[in-house]
Amino acid sequence: MKKPLLQITNLHVQVEDKEIIKGISLDLQPGRITALMGPNGSGKSTLSYALSGHPRYKITQGSILLDGEDITDLGPDIRSQKGLFLSFQYPQSIPGVSLSNFLRAAYNAVKKEEIRVFDFQKMLREKAEQLDVPADFLKRFVNEGFSGGEKKKVEILQALVLEPKVIIMDETDSGLDVDALKLVAEGARKLLTPNSAILLITHYSHILNYLSPDVVTVLKKGEIVATGGAELAQEIEAKGFDGFGGMEQDKPKSSLISSKEKKKKSLLQVLD
Ligand SMILES: Nc1ncnc2c1ncn2[C@@H]1O[C@H](COP(=O)(O)OP(=O)(O)OP(=O)(O)O)[C@@H](O)[C@H]1O
Ligand SMILES: [Mg+2]
Repeated sequence: MKKPLLQITNLHVQVEDKEIIKGISLDLQPGRITALMGPNGSGKSTLSYALSGHPRYKITQGSILLDGEDITDLGPDIRSQKGLFLSFQYPQSIPGVSLSNFLRAAYNAVKKEEIRVFDFQKMLREKAEQLDVPADFLKRFVNEGFSGGEKKKVEILQALVLEPKVIIMDETDSGLDVDALKLVAEGARKLLTPNSAILLITHYSHILNYLSPDVVTVLKKGEIVATGGAELAQEIEAKGFDGFGGMEQDKPKSSLISSKEKKKKSLLQVLD
């Protein structure tokens, strides 16, 4: 087994003094897509914020290793410099800052190099074209007046510019029309290399038809209650989440993991 790019061990996260994430262990392997599914309010976004280093999401126990390095106590800027990228479920707008200037500033900060404006613009135009983002879009203020789908595309554009090692996509597929979904999925596939990994948070198995996950993990009430292969997403689509995380005998057999096992080992160790 290769060394995981992101290794989450027994992570507990509190928001406003309430424990939302209750001891999650999850490994992201290089070259692999892991889908994270779960009902509303199960803690998916909380997990992604905690991974990205948002100060409001307090890690009270456990650790996060990025490419072998402990990043549990590092700030969000250092985490992104080290190759972690979070695509937000609700991207913020930044009035007064053009998308192109924003992306160049992000590039310079993350890559720690000053790219020539001309070279950057050329690279950005090429990547924008791949996502069908019109050139005049790049002059507009970040997310100001962008439609829901346009915001999601811009999140992927940002990732394509920064070339992160670990990409967390929090419902990047929601609100996209069929064509945009295909473009975003293609963009995400470009982000996946033998040296990168994707955590794809989604409610629908639709995007998974374009981006086949290697692992599907189900989160419920802040705990991982099931893990399996791509077929697990189809099972969820057909049956909903009700069968997961209840009484042991009610759980779908293909994805049953006892709580004892869960505590002992990380889920991917169980799988491998
Ligand atoms: N800043 C906060 N203050 C108070 N409660 C919070 C905060 N952030 C998250 N929570 C609570 O944590 C729980 C998990 O929320 P989270 O946004 O992580 O769920 P989710 O799985 O991403 O849901 P969805 O599928 O709807 O996006 C919810 O009950 C939510 O109200
Ligand atoms: Mg969410």
